[in-house]
Amino acid sequence: MAKQQDSNIAVSFFNIHNIITRGLQVSLESVQRILQGGFQGEMDQEGFFNYIRALSSVLNAHHLTEDDLAFPYFRDKLPEAPFDNWMYWHKKMVVILDEINLAMEKCEKKDQLEAGLRDMENALSRLKEGWPYHIQPETDEFINKADALVPVEEQLRLVKLFAEYVLQHALPLHLTVPFMLYNLPMEDRQVFSQWIPAEGILNLVPTSWKEKWESMIPFLLA
Ligand SMILES: [Fe+2]
Ligand SMILES: [Fe+2]
Repeated sequence: MAKQQDSNIAVSFFNIHNIITRGLQVSLESVQRILQGGFQGEMDQEGFFNYIRALSSVLNAHHLTEDDLAFPYFRDKLPEAPFDNWMYWHKKMVVILDEINLAMEKCEKKDQLEAGLRDMENALSRLKEGWPYHIQPETDEFINKADALVPVEEQLRLVKLFAEYVLQHALPLHLTVPFMLYNLPMEDRQVFSQWIPAEGILNLVPTSWKEKWESMIPFLLA
């Protein structure tokens, strides 16, 4: 039998929003630190780019989950909620994510590293600035109301469905799964990890995937 907390749609959306909120904060602070003082070694450089890659992928996967599954499911149940407006904002954020991905490519060319980092700072600043204005109405008009509209067992089914969809699109998983887990404090991480459908994935994080993501550890929570 599912526990209410495990199956609560609101908790799952709060968690993913909190992951992205921290991801944007850490990414922006890090790019500003690097622009001032440079990378502190190869591990710092690898960790920074892995962290940005994971943020971009998770944010995109979250929006796809809302556009393709969550919003269509709740559209009739919440006729007042401005789903089309939110989907429009998702499209605008895709443009900024594309800028971030281009900036990352620029950084790979040695003579364009600083220009790439400046482009990234610019794009991340705009994304971080707009983010609260996107998630606040989503929280007020969708997330806080969704809980009362759907029975607990149905919420459990939906939360699993949404988690599976995120994992289908948030690639590569060896970066995005640890990124999602360790941008949450321990207590929330335990609840969040119950929604990850393939148990094998959780076993891979501390074992065979570790060397692929461990450069991100200084950017993550313990
Ligand atoms: Fe959204
Ligand atoms: Fe959202």
